[in-house]
Amino acid sequence: MCGIIGYTGNGNAVPKMTEGLSVLEYRGYDSVGIAAQTDGGISVVKCKGRIQTLKEKEELAALSSTCAIGHTRWATHGGPSDINAHPHRAGSVVLVHNGIIENYKELKEQMQQKGVYFLSETDTEVAAAVLNDCYLESGDPVAAIRKAMLQLKGSYAFGVLFDDHKGEIYAVRQGSPLILAKGQDGSYLASDITALLPFTREYYPLEEGEIAHLTKSFAKLCSVGGEEITPAWTTTSMSPEAAQKGGYPHFMLKEIHEQSEAIVKSVSSRINAEGLPDFSADGIDADFWKQVKNIQIVACGSAMHAGIVGSRFLEEYAKIPTNVYIASEYRYHPPLAVDGTLVIIISQSGETADSLAALRYAKSAGLPTLGIVNAVETTIAREADRRIYTYAGPEIAVATTKGYCTQVSVLYMLSVAIAYATGRMDAVTAKEIAHSIKEDAPRAVAHMLETYKDTFVRIAKKLAPKEDMFYIGRGTAYALSLEAALKIKEISYIHTEAYAAGELKHGTISLVEEGTPVIAISTEAELYDKTESNVREVASRGADVTLICRDDTGEKEFSANEVILLPTNSEAATVFAALVTIQILAYETARIKGCDIDRPRNLAKSVTVE
Ligand code: G6P
Repeated sequence: MCGIIGYTGNGNAVPKMTEGLSVLEYRGYDSVGIAAQTDGGISVVKCKGRIQTLKEKEELAALSSTCAIGHTRWATHGGPSDINAHPHRAGSVVLVHNGIIENYKELKEQMQQKGVYFLSETDTEVAAAVLNDCYLESGDPVAAIRKAMLQLKGSYAFGVLFDDHKGEIYAVRQGSPLILAKGQDGSYLASDITALLPFTREYYPLEEGEIAHLTKSFAKLCSVGGEEITPAWTTTSMSPEAAQKGGYPHFMLKEIHEQSEAIVKSVSSRINAEGLPDFSADGIDADFWKQVKNIQIVACGSAMHAGIVGSRFLEEYAKIPTNVYIASEYRYHPPLAVDGTLVIIISQSGETADSLAALRYAKSAGLPTLGIVNAVETTIAREADRRIYTYAGPEIAVATTKGYCTQVSVLYMLSVAIAYATGRMDAVTAKEIAHSIKEDAPRAVAHMLETYKDTFVRIAKKLAPKEDMFYIGRGTAYALSLEAALKIKEISYIHTEAYAAGELKHGTISLVEEGTPVIAISTEAELYDKTESNVREVASRGADVTLICRDDTGEKEFSANEVILLPTNSEAATVFAALVTIQILAYETARIKGCDIDRPRNLAKSVTVE
């Protein structure tokens, strides 16, 4: 949430800022700004809107600098405006900030009593004032940051310029992610590595409380206590193309198409030479699973929905009671834990504040934790006792697709691995299912995208003008419906409710009228007839029904207006075919409506505030 970039070196900092910020826009995009050191002091250029609006500003074209910081914002304190955009200046300090300063009101009053006048409504300007106040005392940037940290409560990552420290950037993180990177032409700072892929691949993720001092030739680090730390640089395996659209009109479409490959990557290293599901390459051996008696899955948004799909596999195959919790609620109403409880935190970004808080809560309660994370070396991945990466590659579109898809594939494989390790599934079945996830699921995804291209567009055209619609399903299909409804809402702004098909008649069916779109999903053969009855119920009340069902449903007389058939060579094929269908339907609907698909209104990809 919010993107930070910084550079000091021999090159021109301004184009690096705009290039990096364009990549970071997925973290928030309501306003944008750059602060650059020039011969005449630090110049700040900022505005409401996107990076393109900033690029069109004359002041930016005139700017030349070798040391700058930049920011793209997702508003929390104060709406999107030129004034509230970062960077913010206070005295000799200019800073950009990700996160939230929780005690900003009290600090603002203290600063006002000292005569500080605030221009914006932001908590960030208050942080700048506190830092400047500390800097006035010592004249030492690191000492000032250390002192300010004692006063600031909340989560933050700062990139800071000081008037009288030319060619230097200071940075600190507490709760919000920040990385340093070194390139041939200088030193970099960013909220994530994707922004820096065009420039360098060698990076170091700052640890909590670490303070960095960047100059063009080196990065000096110290802990909040003042001890010097040597950064352990690592090289990312991501290529610069990973953060580009590769010929697709939108990142979301590219990422939907990357899913076949992503599924393979997510599960290949979890199938051993004998073809059995096995997570020992992740440092988790069979004995560990034997101690697990109960699972709590905790996550937000689509990751939570993946957890719901996964919980069905965990209960069906591994026979482990599994409950799924919304991360932001987990701490306030902590579920009862029994001996053998394992807490699984699922997060694509590895930085979601509520999921991280839930992880920390679980750890403080003494529960073993497992992170299922996509972005490597992120906070959740590092703090969880054990971690399984989903290997989906960088996901840029705000609405997740391959992130969610690989969370489901990993959970599916995990449930079979546990089932086998605990003797609840025989080797032949375990091998068969593992094989089907790796082979059938990717093929089914590709098959749906190819075969139903025109059908998806035809259905999306009918959905696009509507204001309300429903997804219904039973069993796993209901779990998929939750994500289906979220996808439509997120990117096409059509109000969509996901209902357990059998529950609709208990009140909500009163909303169904002539022409209301209802999309019914049926993935389990034994649940088809009951779902079909629910389809008839809504169809007879005028609903315009699309049925997504198995291709072995037989010669039925469908009461739906549109039917999409899912391959049934294995359960994996059916589930993943349905999964991609709901994503592409949302995509096509948003495209036809002309929505900003990769950057939907009000959203941000990585939500690092609680
Ligand atoms: C945000 C995103 C969602 C995502 C959720 C959890 O709300 O917009 O797409 O599912 O955060 O994100 P995570 O990175 O923890 O999976």
